Amino acid sequence: MSGPELRRLATRLPARLAAVAAAVPGRARSVADVGAGDGQLARHLAARGLRVVATERRPPSYARLRVALPGLDCRLGEGLEVLRPGEVEGVVLAGMGGHSIARIVDASPAVAGALDWLVLQPQQHADRLVAWLEAAGWRIDARDIAVQGRRSYTVLLVTGHERS
Ligand SMILES: C[S@@+](CC[C@H](N)C(=O)[O-])C[C@H]1O[C@@H](n2cnc3c(N)ncnc32)[C@H](O)[C@@H]1O
Repeated sequence: MSGPELRRLATRLPARLAAVAAAVPGRARSVADVGAGDGQLARHLAARGLRVVATERRPPSYARLRVALPGLDCRLGEGLEVLRPGEVEGVVLAGMGGHSIARIVDASPAVAGALDWLVLQPQQHADRLVAWLEAAGWRIDARDIAVQGRRSYTVLLVTGHERS
């Protein structure tokens, strides 16, 4: 895909997802978008050249995701359970509550511990998520705020798991 086409895809993202996409490290080669929803972000990251796994946890939303992302690796299942350790460099967890994100990361220590980075965009309880991450041995490398409409959204780049 050419540079101009890629930029057009990027500008189509709403501000919240554009900030999530911008937090994905430029050197990244693979990513899982966990809870990919309508697949907008996964499509954008694939257009950027990343190998993308897009997941959903319920059959109806998974079926919609497969239709939205023909040809992409879509998986049905809970959180990080659909991934093997080391299969992707990083994950995106966006549009969920901070407690849900913490639960998903905590539930799969082997997969989480093998990640180079996580991009997290909690809809609520961002500070509690940050406190949980730090207590669990993760490092917050970058924190951004995206404004969309009347809301602002926290976007975190997290690395360096020290527990495993
Ligand atoms: C509000 S949507 C956000 C979609 C997209 N990530 C975004 O930011 O626009 C949250 C999505 O996460 C999915 N989800 C929630 N918990 C999940 C889990 N434990 N494992 C996989 N998907 C999950 C939901 O089905 C839903 O599609």
